[in-house]
Amino acid sequence: MAALGAGMGAALLSACGRGEAATGAIAPLKSHAPFPLGVCAMTAQMGDPQWAAMIATHFDRLTPEWEMKMEYILQPDGSLRFDAPDRIVQQARNYGQSVLGHTLIWYAQDGDYFQKLKGNRPAFEAAYRAYIRDVMTHYIGSVDGWDVVNEPILDDGSDLRDCLWREVLGDAYIDIAYQAAHEADPACPLILNDYNLEYYPAKRKRFLSLVEGMLTRGVPLHVLGTQTHIAADLPRGAIRETLRDLAATGLKIHLSELDISLKEAAKNALDFKDYRDAQHALYEEAAEAYAALPSAQQFGLTIWGLRDKDSWYNRKDRGLIADEPLLFDDAGQLKPVGQAFVKAL
Ligand code: XIL
Repeated sequence: MAALGAGMGAALLSACGRGEAATGAIAPLKSHAPFPLGVCAMTAQMGDPQWAAMIATHFDRLTPEWEMKMEYILQPDGSLRFDAPDRIVQQARNYGQSVLGHTLIWYAQDGDYFQKLKGNRPAFEAAYRAYIRDVMTHYIGSVDGWDVVNEPILDDGSDLRDCLWREVLGDAYIDIAYQAAHEADPACPLILNDYNLEYYPAKRKRFLSLVEGMLTRGVPLHVLGTQTHIAADLPRGAIRETLRDLAATGLKIHLSELDISLKEAAKNALDFKDYRDAQHALYEEAAEAYAALPSAQQFGLTIWGLRDKDSWYNRKDRGLIADEPLLFDDAGQLKPVGQAFVKAL
């Protein structure tokens, strides 16, 4: 299977290579990075030969963009479906890549099955532990790590977010999730992932106090993920400062969902020109600051999409003009920001 996959990859690569010859072939992005370089992926993209060839060439690791989330896996009757995430795992295996599990427990997703159990705490907790155990067991040996809890902190940093998990299990929902995950796969790196940590120092502080508490309580937590979904008007230095603060815990760091939106920075303006230089500088900052971390703490850096047209920003709200948050343009060419990024790695 692996040999077949590699052969198919080579055929696709040479098809793509012809296109690159016209504009100058580029070295695989991953060859610039001394740590795993990842990208998010969906099964809907797998039939696109250019996408598949580029993914195989440039990246070491895939994160399922949504098909490993509870909204896909958990059915209303409590059964689990793994068809789509299994296809992503198989594709990664064919290309010699690894997979990052994303995500087990997220405030944004619970589903009918858990909603119905919320009046019965013991049954709810048993189902919660079983979900984590069964999904992780299915992927033992196939994933590099799991985002166990995703986005637990409020933006203003005042508290944990309210969600069904917290409503029923209290603040302990987080510790319980990590304990259940560790029991399921003791060798698996367990990640705590959140966003806007560079925008809001108070949120970052609360995130770090959660981490400190977990470590003090002996909760198995091994990696901190900072999503880094940012807009091009983020002040310079914030990414660097965030990575430095997170790394001071001594844990490994995953720069987990990097993209830099021009449209969010430009608000309603139809022209992005004022923000292109800023985007360029921020991509350089992200690469440089991550590369400067001690190598033992570099868990990897993941880009949230391949070409601009693959970005979730363009699926959410394409509007009159498309956003350009990623490293490759719609045609699959590495953009100047992409060149700057890889140079700075
Ligand atoms: C987004 C995906 O990109 C979308 O396709 C999906 O519909 C919603 O989720 N934080 C996360 C990611 O942890 O899972 C989110 O991904 C982006 C924000």
